Amino acid sequence: MNADVSTDNPVLQDRFGRTIDYVRLSVTDRCDFRCVYCMAEDMTFVPRAQVLTLEEMARLARVLVQLGVKRIRLTGGEPLVRRDVAHLVHNIGAIDGLRELNMTTNGAGLPRHAQALKAAGVDRLNISLDSLDPERFRALTRTGDLHKVLAGIEAVGHAGFRRIKLNSVILRGRNQDEVPALVDFALERGLDIAFIEEMPLGAISEHDRALEFVSSEALRNQLSQRLTLVPMAEKTGGPSRYWQVLGSDSRIGFISPHSQNFCHLCNRVRITAEGRMLLCLGHEHSVDLRAVLRAHPTDDVPLRQAIIDAMAIKPERHDFNLAPGEQLVRFMNMTGG
Ligand code: 5AD
Ligand code: SF4
Repeated sequence: MNADVSTDNPVLQDRFGRTIDYVRLSVTDRCDFRCVYCMAEDMTFVPRAQVLTLEEMARLARVLVQLGVKRIRLTGGEPLVRRDVAHLVHNIGAIDGLRELNMTTNGAGLPRHAQALKAAGVDRLNISLDSLDPERFRALTRTGDLHKVLAGIEAVGHAGFRRIKLNSVILRGRNQDEVPALVDFALERGLDIAFIEEMPLGAISEHDRALEFVSSEALRNQLSQRLTLVPMAEKTGGPSRYWQVLGSDSRIGFISPHSQNFCHLCNRVRITAEGRMLLCLGHEHSVDLRAVLRAHPTDDVPLRQAIIDAMAIKPERHDFNLAPGEQLVRFMNMTGG
């Protein structure tokens, strides 16, 4: 193994001069919820043998960090439904050179896992919360229990996490009227909150995405009538922009994946639970890293090369289309939210 690759010199660069130092790693495609914008009601999940083992995931993470990756976010599906996930978190958290280990979760597993995640080195958590009304929450998640998620949010506060962020996908006529209440909930607890435009990933029949789409701009205008929002300069390299709420510690973010303006700053790739590296959220361009991991179980050189070579097919930008028939076949739980 080449131990001489300096992590200060970006190794992962694409054709457009972008440095890739952020990876979203899906721990599992499974989930205990069935959110209407994320999954179909009767999902088929990937057979277990096709999912990377926790050891393969940790090895992949280690090689990515050697190639200059600074931040890893564990996603799903729901990462906390994977057995022994705390073990994986511990192994990734211990990798030298990794600056931040974060996780996106639906929150239901947090009463059980919060302490262990903190101890294992998770820096930041994003928790999905689309409604504060138990029945509506159930309707949006199909199987979710709001009370568990609220208990989870309380548990992460006790475990000592800072800068916890709530994520809310807003659908017209479903939960748009709850935006002020969700903001108040966040402000009262010193949490950040981000509102996400629904993305057209996977064929769903539950609702028409084009009809229920709410733009970030509309939400910001709605909120500006009650709060003073001060734009923050910080760019995340992703589709989010943040505003500081005047007189509070909380930030409000708006995630507009439909806008392409951020593509030139893109610093990330995704890896599915099957070990497929996705080069862009809005395209199918991908590389099968599982094949390389399994063909070379002890030699990291081919894996490193495959990751470096993958950068050559990272698309310049995405172009989402809300029209039925024009949507990507890949569901969000396959993509790594
Ligand atoms: N559009 C936007 N956000 C989505 N998420 C899942 N599916 C979609 C979609 N189609 C979000 C969830 C969660 C994160 C994992 O991804 O709300 O916050
Ligand atoms: Fe599960 Fe998150 Fe998808 Fe909801 S959005 S079904 S919580 S993976």
